[in-house]
Amino acid sequence: LTDPLVFFVNGKKVVEYLPDPEWTLLYYLRYKLNLCGTKEGCSEGGCGACTVMVSKRNMLTGNVSNLAVNACLTPVCSVHKSAVVTVEGIGSLREGLHPVQERIAKSHGSQCGFCTPGFVMSMYSLLRSNPEPDSRELETAFQGRRERELMAETRKRFGNVGGS
Ligand code: FES
Repeated sequence: LTDPLVFFVNGKKVVEYLPDPEWTLLYYLRYKLNLCGTKEGCSEGGCGACTVMVSKRNMLTGNVSNLAVNACLTPVCSVHKSAVVTVEGIGSLREGLHPVQERIAKSHGSQCGFCTPGFVMSMYSLLRSNPEPDSRELETAFQGRRERELMAETRKRFGNVGGS
């Protein structure tokens, strides 16, 4: 037997003894944990509807990184020892909206609402790392550019493990 997959979702510990290596984080959130606030749009990293925040501690520096990730592209096994925050974890109508949610709602910024959780989580993740972003940093965060840069850096260091 191997060690189980252990991670946190919205502050609650999740232990999975037999994770399927093909499960994505999006699949796990929606179909194992019934957290359907994270939406499935394109399923290929293009739309951002599935964005959640993943926080990891760097074992060497002790620093915690808070990254917006596309849950549709993230294997659930890769979040071992991480903390995941979904839109359900930051606010609700019942318990009070997070300021990001409140401002989007007040500005009529949600359009049809399907991908709004992705916008909210992109903004929330940015603010966790950078509480006073300028407009250029906001635009970059919504483009997912930071994540692409990290991916390119990983490929440079470890090779093209993802295939494309
Ligand atoms: Fe579109 Fe994940 S569902 S980026």
